[in-house]
Amino acid sequence: MTNGIAGEAQVEVTHWPYPRLVAHRCGGKLAPENTLAGFDACVQHGYRMVEFDAKLSADNQVFLLHDDTLDRTTNGCGAAAQHTWAQLAALDAGSWFDRRFAGVCLPTIADAATRCERDALAANIEIKPCPGRDALTGELVAAAALSLWRRSQMPLLSSFSYDALAAARKVAPTLPRGMLFDAVPRDWRRIVHELECVSLHVDHRHLTDALVAEIRAAGLRVLAYTVNDPVRARELVQWGVDMICTDRLDLITEAL
Ligand code: G3P
Ligand code: MG
Repeated sequence: MTNGIAGEAQVEVTHWPYPRLVAHRCGGKLAPENTLAGFDACVQHGYRMVEFDAKLSADNQVFLLHDDTLDRTTNGCGAAAQHTWAQLAALDAGSWFDRRFAGVCLPTIADAATRCERDALAANIEIKPCPGRDALTGELVAAAALSLWRRSQMPLLSSFSYDALAAARKVAPTLPRGMLFDAVPRDWRRIVHELECVSLHVDHRHLTDALVAEIRAAGLRVLAYTVNDPVRARELVQWGVDMICTDRLDLITEAL
């Protein structure tokens, strides 16, 4: 199957190597987000794919963190992009979640790749640039992904940032790309065509049966985030959603 958008480059999507369930921010709500402790939770619950957020330190190390600032999920404070990797590596990224996770560090993308390889986990790398760093982050994340992952198990790149995905495409055109939206805009076809995306990643609250059918009829896969209710997850799967990204690894299981 290819994307059937008239007059557009055809994107091959027959081979879809990713599982149905994706652990949001590594371990969802069961471990400090975007840490290797989250990978442990993912494996313990039988998940075979992680989603994590990747951004740049001041000295351009690619590492895992969701927010632009350090305050919520580490014992540091201020803008992440103002800190060197040496400063970031010294932070505690686990205590905010639970004392049991004291001393858990921020991982680099290389740490994440090693864990994916060791535990046979697929990856959805969300490129999450700090303000003003969109293109450089897209470029460096894609270059890192290309060099760190095996060709047989390539990660799916995604981003809310058009510029980040455009830069990723330039550096690593062979890596699959997914466009992230809160709600799907009217011009989604133009965007996915320009970026040669294979998937749309959408806040599940903005998905309808008809919209899922429309996206899939265009030859694209659909990832719904962040789905924490098993009944809703089942409904989305019945509509044809390909991937469910969840915090509740304990509730959303293959049995859905
Ligand atoms: O990629 C899906 C989801 O991670 C997007 O939202 O804010 O949790 O990164 P966020
Ligand atoms: Mg994310």
